Amino acid sequence: MGGTGGELASSIEGIARDEMRHFKWFAQIVVSLGGNPTTERAPVERTNDPVAFIQANSNAEDGAVATYRQHREAIPYENIKKLFDRIISEEQHHGEKFRAMVPKVEGMPPIEYRAPQTPQEKLLYRYLEEDVSGEYAAILRYLHQSFVVKDGWLSKALEDRAIDEMKHMGWMAEHKAEAGGEPVHDARPRSSPAQFEQAFTQSPDSLSRSPQFCPA
Ligand SMILES: [Fe+2]
Ligand SMILES: [Fe+2]
Repeated sequence: MGGTGGELASSIEGIARDEMRHFKWFAQIVVSLGGNPTTERAPVERTNDPVAFIQANSNAEDGAVATYRQHREAIPYENIKKLFDRIISEEQHHGEKFRAMVPKVEGMPPIEYRAPQTPQEKLLYRYLEEDVSGEYAAILRYLHQSFVVKDGWLSKALEDRAIDEMKHMGWMAEHKAEAGGEPVHDARPRSSPAQFEQAFTQSPDSLSRSPQFCPA
């Protein structure tokens, strides 16, 4: 994505980074209260229409503000209320940022994904989906471990590994997008490596186009 698309992508990624910090802070509170933080997530809606997804994002931010205000009132600890104040203010800022993006995406065509053209491409797409899903699972596993271990050094080392996995997940997802497919994060059961090998041994040149993406 270049130009406006590139700016939007990096702005949305910046907001996602804030959400990762919120995730960490909430998990740390759960641990400090003696609990076990969840790695379950709410469903991720996907749409191809840029205006629809930016508006959905700003609505989700407004929803988060309303929910966190209720939680802030219900929680009796001053230090946790202060954390909620900070998070609420960041969510308000995210909502404003998404609202400001709406005029920039108006008129943008829907994002089109290309269906795999050959059995080999179908398998390649599937493998990349499994890889994205595997990276995502590794991120959640390492983060959860980093939240719950008491040792500060180990916690930081696990968090660093989770950040590495985020990079890997980004590369895999971009690789799939470069190949024309939709990057997805849902859990995918692993298929057999033999299937992949067999498909490419039978016809190694049959990918209708080779993805250009390479991690920097
Ligand atoms: Fe957040
Ligand atoms: Fe947010």
